Amino acid sequence: MRLLAVTVSLGAALLVMTTANSYAAGGDAIFKKSCASCHYTDGPAKEKTIADQLAKKGPELFYAGSKFQKAWLAAWLQNPKPIRPMKYNSLTEKNKGDHPKSSAGDAAALTDFLMGLTSPEVKAGVIKPAESPQAKAIFNKKMPCTGCHEFSLKGELHGGKSGPSLVGVSKRLNPDWIYAYLANIKVFKPVRDMPDFSSALSPKEMENVAAYLATFE
Ligand code: HEC
Ligand code: HEC
Repeated sequence: MRLLAVTVSLGAALLVMTTANSYAAGGDAIFKKSCASCHYTDGPAKEKTIADQLAKKGPELFYAGSKFQKAWLAAWLQNPKPIRPMKYNSLTEKNKGDHPKSSAGDAAALTDFLMGLTSPEVKAGVIKPAESPQAKAIFNKKMPCTGCHEFSLKGELHGGKSGPSLVGVSKRLNPDWIYAYLANIKVFKPVRDMPDFSSALSPKEMENVAAYLATFE
């Protein structure tokens, strides 16, 4: 009797382990089935044409592991809220906020898969979140960043709507990716990009701006 009970619980434990493993291994399969119609995972994007880009309804994800924070990604996939106030690839249509939702299990597997997609252009562990008077002046006055990007000041929304919202960047984006993006934008966004600031700003200024955005609540 006791032996049987041990065998049964061992069997159950094995079953649980296999299920957990098949979830962890299945992120790429789930992605192919449910996500690949709207997102590229092959890069670098500079090899894509405008027609390729327009064929996909969502942003490219080939550097998702360098761009996003893991905890944010796992939570967002289960409860996706609009990031871009306007629909992707449109400046006139409002974002309907109808991104597909994933179950907790799928979101975990997809997060493992996406966090494995990193870019060699992003040097990890260099930029730490920090405010500086220089970065504040660049973002708010010297450069037109706030004309296109929403941000929150004392709980109130300010700024434009044509670019992605920068509200909550401290939890969403990796500061090293923000720097790499500002410094070398064509690698990440060959087609629909924002203005290239890499000649207007020095590397140190871009580092400070990346560190500053990484403090945004
Ligand atoms: C019908 C098209 C469509 C499908 C299917 C789709 N997405 Fe998206 N996805 C989008 C659009 C459009 C956005 C931009 C949303 C925004 O900015 O608010 C987006 C944004 C994202 C982002 C944030 C990207 C960024 O750079 O800000 C991630 C991560 C993501 N999707 C993952 C997934 C995963 C994983 C799946 C499969 C479960 C999936 N998507 C399925 C259209 C789609
Ligand atoms: C003319 C409009 C415009 C201006 C000015 C502008 N941006 Fe952008 N920005 C964009 C667009 C468009 C995107 C990318 C759109 C996309 O991925 O869908 C973007 C993307 C970004 C991203 C990545 C956000 C994400 O979640 O993918 C960051 C960070 C950023 N901009 C910071 C800045 C900073 C800092 C400045 C000023 C130095 C600036 N932007 C100026 C339009 C602009």
